[in-house]
Amino acid sequence: MSQADIGLIGLAVMGQNLVLNMNDHDIKVAVFNRTTSKVDDFMEGRAKGTNIIGTHSIEELVGSLKSPRRVMMMVKAGDVVDSFIDLLVPHLDKGDIIIDGGNELYTNTNRRTRDLAEKGILYIGTGISGGEEGARFGPSIMPGGNPDAWPHVKDIFQSIAAQVDGEPCCDWVGEEGAGQYVKMVHNGIEYGDMQLICEAYDFMKRGLGMNESDMQGVFAEWNKGVLDSYLIEITTNILGFKDDEGYPLNRILDRAGQKGTGKWTGINALDLGIPLTLIGESVFARCLSAMKDERVKAAEFLDGPTPSFDGDAKEFVGYIHDALYASKIISYAQGYMLIREAAKEYGWNLNYGSIALMWRGGCIIRSAFLGNIKEAFDKNPDLENLLLDDFFRDAIHNAQAGWRKVVAKGAEMGIPTPTFSSALAYYDGYRSATLPANMLQAQRDYFGAHTYERTDKPRGEMFHTDWIGSGGNVSSTIYDV
Ligand code: 6PG
Repeated sequence: MSQADIGLIGLAVMGQNLVLNMNDHDIKVAVFNRTTSKVDDFMEGRAKGTNIIGTHSIEELVGSLKSPRRVMMMVKAGDVVDSFIDLLVPHLDKGDIIIDGGNELYTNTNRRTRDLAEKGILYIGTGISGGEEGARFGPSIMPGGNPDAWPHVKDIFQSIAAQVDGEPCCDWVGEEGAGQYVKMVHNGIEYGDMQLICEAYDFMKRGLGMNESDMQGVFAEWNKGVLDSYLIEITTNILGFKDDEGYPLNRILDRAGQKGTGKWTGINALDLGIPLTLIGESVFARCLSAMKDERVKAAEFLDGPTPSFDGDAKEFVGYIHDALYASKIISYAQGYMLIREAAKEYGWNLNYGSIALMWRGGCIIRSAFLGNIKEAFDKNPDLENLLLDDFFRDAIHNAQAGWRKVVAKGAEMGIPTPTFSSALAYYDGYRSATLPANMLQAQRDYFGAHTYERTDKPRGEMFHTDWIGSGGNVSSTIYDV
């Protein structure tokens, strides 16, 4: 009997929680999992007593759906998604909809959207953020793909999404892979936010010698102000968590893992020529942390200052707050710069304010701060850089004295602050009308006749100097990223 509103393939943590969330909103879901015993376990366990329908084959799943059929996959990104699409297509009709809700590389979504459109199937690739709890009670949902599919999934997605001030944290992002692209940048920003918090924690612990309980108090306080966010909240909870053996935090090996979305963001920034320095540093900080054995050896071999502090620790904690806040502004400014460039490059028509709204609740980077970003784009939808908005300019101006002190003190004490300091370097570079790239261009021209533009001539007009008096007249063409 065709009765379910949507089918869902993949009953891992995210899939199960999304299904239960849909069920709570009176959406009738049919589920399927490749290992079908998982369907039975789910139906006997968490799905017991709900309206969820368990199915044991793709045919049965598709056969249980209302038309146009909507099938959502919550499976491993990459080849697994392609293989499920291949299994589904023969059972679908024109106008049916396939949705991928995983952390998929946007170029795969571009390809699938086009290929399926040729077959008359409408494809959506959607970012979903918020982890297990978000999926269960309200994630942030960032759908993109074939725009014709949106009216068919809008109500379902918006009803299960997190709501902030009565607005769902879900809206149509854009064509093809735009939704998963925006989720990728979300994850890059997540990496940045996490690394910023780690640097603040490290500074307080190693630099100022603070204990867990004092640090917990500081983060709890910060969570009441401009840094109010999910990640500061969980950091506060982690610092306050004790079991029989003490603080679990202090037993965790300092080797960070990563699944690759931060790296994708960095690679894309290099491809598009956008200085996404903070996210880049946060990916590299994870890589450096993972070289634990080598670091242990190097710690014996390489010398540097031993952190010690004899100033006013309370005052310095205020500077660390400001360093975190200012760096966070830089990170989002850079992230939005990347999204803007991608929109231009890939021909996506993106609404930056609505992206901020989607991230305002439900997702891992949710914060009060995103409300300020939304306001900045409401005031000026074409804002080139968040730093050019009055609110963020004033915020950076107010925070920069403390930020500079933290970066300087970190260097002096030998405490690494890769994101605080790279953010500051970006800030000082961005506000420099003149940079030393004249020397760089001269060097390129000297060794490779790469030519340069002149300050006193129109842009694009190229010049070459015969620096050593023996070069020919032939100049290389310029090469832009
Ligand atoms: C989210 C998260 C999630 C991501 C994890 C792990 O928005 O819910 O971004 O999608 O997979 O945070 O990412 P890493 O293993 O790369 O840290």
